[in-house]
Amino acid sequence: MNAGRNEDPREGRSGDDAGRNDDAGRNDDAGWNDDAGRNDAGPAASFEHVPVLLEQVVSLLEGAPDGLFVDATVGGAGHAAAVLDAHPGLHLLGIDRDDRAVAAARDRLGRFGARAEVVRSPFSRIEDLVRARSEQGASAVLMDLGVSSPQLDEADRGFSHRSAGPLDMRMDRRAPKSAYEVVNEYSFPKLRRVIAEFGEERHADRIARHVVDARPISDSAHLAEVVAAAVPAPARRRGGHPARRTFQAIRMEVNRELDELAEGLEAALGALAPGGRMCVLSYHSLEDRMVKGAFREAASGGCVCPDGLECVCGATPTVRLLKRGAWKPTESEVQRNPRSRSARLRAVEAVGGRAS
Ligand SMILES: C[S@@+](CC[C@H](N)C(=O)[O-])C[C@H]1O[C@@H](n2cnc3c(N)ncnc32)[C@H](O)[C@@H]1O
Repeated sequence: MNAGRNEDPREGRSGDDAGRNDDAGRNDDAGWNDDAGRNDAGPAASFEHVPVLLEQVVSLLEGAPDGLFVDATVGGAGHAAAVLDAHPGLHLLGIDRDDRAVAAARDRLGRFGARAEVVRSPFSRIEDLVRARSEQGASAVLMDLGVSSPQLDEADRGFSHRSAGPLDMRMDRRAPKSAYEVVNEYSFPKLRRVIAEFGEERHADRIARHVVDARPISDSAHLAEVVAAAVPAPARRRGGHPARRTFQAIRMEVNRELDELAEGLEAALGALAPGGRMCVLSYHSLEDRMVKGAFREAASGGCVCPDGLECVCGATPTVRLLKRGAWKPTESEVQRNPRSRSARLRAVEAVGGRAS
């Protein structure tokens, strides 16, 4: 247990919150309504996010040894609270780079007292954060990637093509780059690449051209309009809002989501204690491919021997896959929670010493 480390889990550990990004840019919080969407019942009451594949995550992490549970994307703490309830031998380090999520998670986890600590940080720092709290490493790690429902629903964050808000999209509102810079300042080829790669958008060329021609683009509603007009009419009628993929791509660029994931996966695998379990929920095929690759690499120890032959290259696996493929939500979960539709859950267990 980390008793004594942080008597009051609602107190931020200023050591973790300070020193990163604080001086990295403008004080963009100025002028924003920090309380948007809140009510008197506290931050958790207005932070409604339905946790995806909850039972599966809880049952996988129930198999973890006692010790430190790191929820690297704690959000509204739905998964975190359910895992703490189910597994009395775990204590939590919740991580999120979004200050509103941190406030909501601290509020929701208050009932666990010193068993739950929440810090504001990117999860790429997970290894240092774990090392400062536990010598043997993390018994359980959860990453539930992407954005939360409140981030999408609060118009003032600018994540959604459905509402008019500033071109922001930063999860960490101290970060120097917002969607405004990507939309209004990226060169045409750079913007086209972002939309094509991260949005997997076949009309990236037309969309980037329209965006560049329409500059300056002032807000998210304006951007959604410009993108929709760029998409050929037959494609506009298929597959949801025509700006959905472009918004996703810009969000991933603003938040460096794939770079963070690559660093976070390596750091989290390196932070696992013997027997420790790690679950990752992803919602995008590029993310899932990275998770699958990182888990397979760790499970083979980087073995280069031909498939089916005995390993003679000296590779040492650091984890075992808890399933070869991925768990998916059932149809009934998708009906209850449409945002779960694209979810893929993968899990591993550390073997031997630390999985690094
Ligand atoms: C899908 S939500 C998690 C929801 C959570 N599992 C729950 O039950 O409420 C993802 C959260 O991860 C955070 N996040 C995404 N990327 C992150 C990163 N690289 N470092 C830290 N937090 C991140 C987001 O700010 C968001 O709050």
